[in-house]
Amino acid sequence: MKKKQIHLNGFIQNSPSPHSTGLWKHENDRGTRHNRLKYWIDTAKTLERGKFDAMFIADVLGTYSVYGNSHDAAVRHAVQLPAHDPTLVIPAMAAATEHLGFAPTISTTYAQPYSLARQLSTLDHLTEGRVAWNVVTSYLESEAVNLGLDGRLPKALRYDRADEFLEVVYKLWEDSWEEGAVLHDREKDIFADADKVHMINHQGEFFNVPGPHLVEPSPQRTPVLFQAGASPKGRDFAAKHAEAVFTKNHSLDALTAYTNDIRERTIAQGRNADDVLIFPMILPIIGATEAEAWQKYEDLQNNVSYEGTASLLSGHTGIDFSQYDPDQYIEDIETEAVQGNLDMYTKDPDRRWTLREAVKNHGLGNGTVKFIGTPEQIADRIEEWSEVGGADGFNIAQTYSPGTFKEFVDHVVPELQKRGIYRTEYEGETLRENMFGKGRRYLAGNHPAKRTKTLSERY
Ligand SMILES: Cc1cc2nc3c(=O)[nH]c(=O)nc-3n(C[C@H](O)[C@H](O)[C@H](O)COP(=O)(O)O)c2cc1C
Repeated sequence: MKKKQIHLNGFIQNSPSPHSTGLWKHENDRGTRHNRLKYWIDTAKTLERGKFDAMFIADVLGTYSVYGNSHDAAVRHAVQLPAHDPTLVIPAMAAATEHLGFAPTISTTYAQPYSLARQLSTLDHLTEGRVAWNVVTSYLESEAVNLGLDGRLPKALRYDRADEFLEVVYKLWEDSWEEGAVLHDREKDIFADADKVHMINHQGEFFNVPGPHLVEPSPQRTPVLFQAGASPKGRDFAAKHAEAVFTKNHSLDALTAYTNDIRERTIAQGRNADDVLIFPMILPIIGATEAEAWQKYEDLQNNVSYEGTASLLSGHTGIDFSQYDPDQYIEDIETEAVQGNLDMYTKDPDRRWTLREAVKNHGLGNGTVKFIGTPEQIADRIEEWSEVGGADGFNIAQTYSPGTFKEFVDHVVPELQKRGIYRTEYEGETLRENMFGKGRRYLAGNHPAKRTKTLSERY
């Protein structure tokens, strides 16, 4: 019997060393060149060489200024700043690759569904069906005040808006243009059949969008939907809408609890347990020997910035850690920021975390679990997290960029392939097919986007 196959995504952001604060100064880091296309093309080719499903491009639209109520520490230590646009680099990478998917992050709190639908449909055309969307609701106050709001919306309201936002884009992507609407009939002088292009007439609490959609149907229609909510409301949102979720877990037990919970919530939404692929994030630190890997870990730790990481953690959790003594324990609160990032340090059943310890952990790979060792040892843990923990794939974070990806592709990928748990060739044409199998070009029939009224009922 064929062994359970795993999937891989590369986690990156259009910033210098975005997920390992301070690593921009490491001799192997090229992240300061994120403003050049060559950096992105080189990184995309590496991921495609490693047969990754997609490059996952995180994003924020504001500065980390919770720490000391100022952006100074973020500026000094390049804490996801500069923060360049995640979508504009995609067409250049698509032109240099054939199979790799691209998953930019765009916030439903600040975008408009009508224009976002156009933007992602355009990218799905240009990439020939290789686009996903990481749906986020955003967490920084500095985003809200720069984008026309008086302050950050409460989390519950952000998720309510996100839910309706998705309803609107589903109507635009799935229902506005019927199959066969585009005719290109030169003899009759008809580009497209007007009877097959419909208004959506959406009227709701947050949005009124008459339509029609501005773009003819793209290869996947709806891009593959990624999500990463950790709060109960965030998990329900993921269970309802997402085709893949990203998660950060310290331990195999925590991952197992998370995967069981997401599968239950997915079934409760009328979907199948395996309709949502679960990708825990891991940071690989690879050595020829175990001792060498741990030595490397120490060297990498020495490049982490304490103040920069404390500022990142303040933004992630919403707590101003400039007011904390480094040896103070982190307080367990319900946050309006990223609940999962706080829970990692406050709901750990094995221990309590001081700020100093949390900063040490958060400095490399945004606090994600580190797999440190030889390629064989790392492959062992990947197999265990997949088989026991229920992971469908892994989101690979970096220390130095894109060197971490290169080392993983050169050393760990062949080991996974040797064990028969990882592809040696891409299976499909589109990103969704590579994730779910050939023939799955479109959303599954039981997805809520497909459960809206049929076209003939609606129009
Ligand atoms: C692995 C991971 C990656 C994320 N990437 C982003 C991101 O790039 N931009 C963003 O605004 N939020 C990001 N988030 C935050 C979530 O998408 C979500 O908006 C946030 O966690 C608040 O909701 P929650 O408390 O339900 O988790 C990420 C979360 C995780 C766990």
